[in-house]
Amino acid sequence: MGKILLTSGQVSILLSSCIIIVFTVVLFLSGYIIQQRTVYSLQAAIRPNLPKPLPIPKPIDPPTLDVKWARPMGARPEVDETVDQMIAGQTLDWSRLGYAQVVKEHEEVCSAIMLLADIHRMKSPARKILLFPRVWLRTSEDEGYDAEMTTTRRLLKTAARRYGVSLIPMETIVDNADESLPSSYSLASLYTLINYERIVYIQGPGSLLDASALDSLLAFSKSEPMAAYPASPERKALSTSLLLVHPSLQSYRQLKELRSAKPMGDLSLFRQAFAAPESLISEWSLSMGNVVYESQKLRDAVDGFNATVFKGATTYVRLSDPELPGPEYDVPYYLRVELRPENLEARGAWEALYERFRQRRMEVCGLDLEYWKRPVLEAGSPDSG
Ligand SMILES: *[C@@H]1O[C@H](CO)[C@@H](O)[C@H](O)[C@H]1NC(C)=O
Repeated sequence: MGKILLTSGQVSILLSSCIIIVFTVVLFLSGYIIQQRTVYSLQAAIRPNLPKPLPIPKPIDPPTLDVKWARPMGARPEVDETVDQMIAGQTLDWSRLGYAQVVKEHEEVCSAIMLLADIHRMKSPARKILLFPRVWLRTSEDEGYDAEMTTTRRLLKTAARRYGVSLIPMETIVDNADESLPSSYSLASLYTLINYERIVYIQGPGSLLDASALDSLLAFSKSEPMAAYPASPERKALSTSLLLVHPSLQSYRQLKELRSAKPMGDLSLFRQAFAAPESLISEWSLSMGNVVYESQKLRDAVDGFNATVFKGATTYVRLSDPELPGPEYDVPYYLRVELRPENLEARGAWEALYERFRQRRMEVCGLDLEYWKRPVLEAGSPDSG
């Protein structure tokens, strides 16, 4: 009996020592954990702060990215990683993004500068570039006074000084071609701008209503050799009204070879070199409204057309009415009346676009509208006698 009692006493001692050991271990462990935590927070406290990723290089005025572009209709197709990165502001370097104009003849200089001036006025952070024939740099003192050349020089200086435009001389697209012919030059020269990652080209003459939408296109697109505005909604062919290009000497050489083999205009050249629909601006990018609108379409406006809504949804209007020589020309009033849209809202918008062009031409270039006479040879024309 005594032996058993002793044993149970031993058991109880054993039990209590076990309990003590367990508590000691628990106490030790909790102490250890607390200590480790303290060590971690100490380590964290003495570790230097990792630098945060650099913010986007701040342009003078950050672009207000347009909501039209941020919320397109429908789902966004397979998003490219690089696009997401760029949206995060990691790789957006505005000094490598630009708007370029290409002038091949004197008459185009003012309209090209007007577009770059619009981009400047709307405070786009992207660069502005003007490509012009190198032959214009040649001093022609012995050739006497050349009014066109004098105006062009004045305009180029204005572009550089007032609107911060980079002036870049270009060569003829075919080696040893006649430097004095506009047809010797090509939009393909855009591909020589290899210091830039992406370039937007807009075909003038026209009126830019919203630079921020184009800034978004420039900033948040993939770099591809060519992304052109489609010639029609069916997306069967490209047009040259709006181009987004990634300049590279490889593309330039290809175009130069094609063009050297056979004389052709820029539209044919680009259609041969770049297949549709692969080389068109994605439908997703164009789903926010009228990116490029031609003024002649205002004549098809139907009841319910709202000029305010039109302006809000339109990025760029190319002033192109086939019967008119261009917005640079002073067209007789009777002809305007014949051609202007019937719909009153659309007529207001159409007339305002041409009038704004006239005013801007005076402000930017100091030029009046050019004199224009309706061609005498026009079939069925009332004044053809
Ligand atoms: C055009 O639309 C705007 C905004 O939706 C509206 O305020 C305006 O009254 C409309 N104008 C006409 C003529 O319907």
